[in-house]
Amino acid sequence: MIEIDEQVVSLRDARSVRICGVTAEHAAAFSEFMRAVSEESPWSGMMPSEVRSQADQRKAFEEQDEDGLHWRLGVWDDSTGMIVGDCSMTRTDRAKFCHVARLGIGVRDGWRGVGLGRIMMERALDTARRDPDILRLELLVFAKNSIARSLYLSMGFVEEGMNIRSVRQSDGSFDDDVHMAIWVGD
Ligand SMILES: CC(C)(COP(=O)(O)OP(=O)(O)OC[C@H]1O[C@@H](n2cnc3c(N)ncnc32)[C@H](O)[C@@H]1OP(=O)(O)O)[C@@H](O)C(=O)NCCC(=O)NCCS
Repeated sequence: MIEIDEQVVSLRDARSVRICGVTAEHAAAFSEFMRAVSEESPWSGMMPSEVRSQADQRKAFEEQDEDGLHWRLGVWDDSTGMIVGDCSMTRTDRAKFCHVARLGIGVRDGWRGVGLGRIMMERALDTARRDPDILRLELLVFAKNSIARSLYLSMGFVEEGMNIRSVRQSDGSFDDDVHMAIWVGD
């Protein structure tokens, strides 16, 4: 997939962040970020106990980097060294499906609502449109996650259907998983 150019951006609240690719050397910061989001956000698909350890994450990144089917963008707060946002696109190598990339995104609590999600989505869409191997970008979002759904709709994603009650939250309540996608080929 297309490489990620490093970029420093100013957010709506005047804080600055640095955007760059996430590699195996960032495994510790990435695991910490994933654990933080999964601990506080009901919209994460992972429980904290399911987040990979630093060692497992490093191994996973190393393996992913060999196949060239993964794109991982990270946003750093350099004043703390923490990752505050991530966005990824993943393809399969199966011939009938390899034109499809699956998108994932998350922003750390305290950094939401200031434009980071939209900036990362724009970077992902721009990359997908320039990559001749990607024709369709798709994602799954919990139905009750209205902020994320409105962001994706505003970027041109279409809601194609949903898996009813396929999500069970830790409090026992159910949610639906909405399938959204955008065609980025010609
Ligand atoms: C969903 C998420 C990625 C959006 O990122 P973000 O940085 O908070 O979003 P942005 O600040 O770029 O806002 C994008 C849009 O979302 C909507 N939005 C953001 N915050 C909102 C709020 N508090 N209330 C209502 N709408 C809101 C607005 O439509 C906004 O559009 P605008 O750019 O015209 O203002 C982020 O909130 C997040 O990580 N949430 C927790 C985990 C999660 O939901 N992951 C996605 C799983 S599919």
